[in-house]
Amino acid sequence: MNIWIINGPNINLLGTREPDIYGHETMESINRQIQTYLTDHGHIYEFFQSNSEGALVDKIQDALNEQVDGIVINPAAYTHYSYAIHDALKSVSIPTVEVHLSAIHSREAFRKDSVIAPACIGQVSGFGPASYLLGVQALELHLAKENT
Ligand code: DQA
Repeated sequence: MNIWIINGPNINLLGTREPDIYGHETMESINRQIQTYLTDHGHIYEFFQSNSEGALVDKIQDALNEQVDGIVINPAAYTHYSYAIHDALKSVSIPTVEVHLSAIHSREAFRKDSVIAPACIGQVSGFGPASYLLGVQALELHLAKENT
C-alpha cells in the first residue's frame, strides 16, 4: 500500500511545544517509528508537514495523481475550522484516518469539534505518538477489508 502521513501546523515544534500536553518526542522521532512500522509491513510512504492550509490542500490533491491508497492526517488546529481540508479529502475520496496526540474531546470546548472527521473513515485521539501507529493500523485493516 502507498500510505501518506500528513501533519498540519505546529506539529513540527513537537518536543518543545507544550510538552505537558504533547510530550517530549519530536515529529522526526515519531516519523521514524511510523517509518519502521510501514517498512516492516511492506508499505511505501511519504511524510509531509506544513503550517499552511493551502500547502496541505495541494498535498491532498497530489495524492490522487500519486495513487495513494490511504492517508493518516493530523490536521492540528485546522481540525477545528478548515472546510478547505475537509473538501480536499472529500474531493480525492482516499480513505483517511484523522489522528491527534492529545484527547481533543477532553480539552477546551473549541477542540471538541472536528470539521475534518466527517471526511474521514475514523478518528484516533489521545494516545500520544501511538495515535499515529493506531491510525496506520486502522487504515491497514480498512484497506485489507476493501480489497477482499
Ligand atoms: C492536535 C490537537 C489540536 O487541537 C491542536 O490544535 C494541535 C494538535 C493533537 O495532535 O493533539 O495542534 O491535533
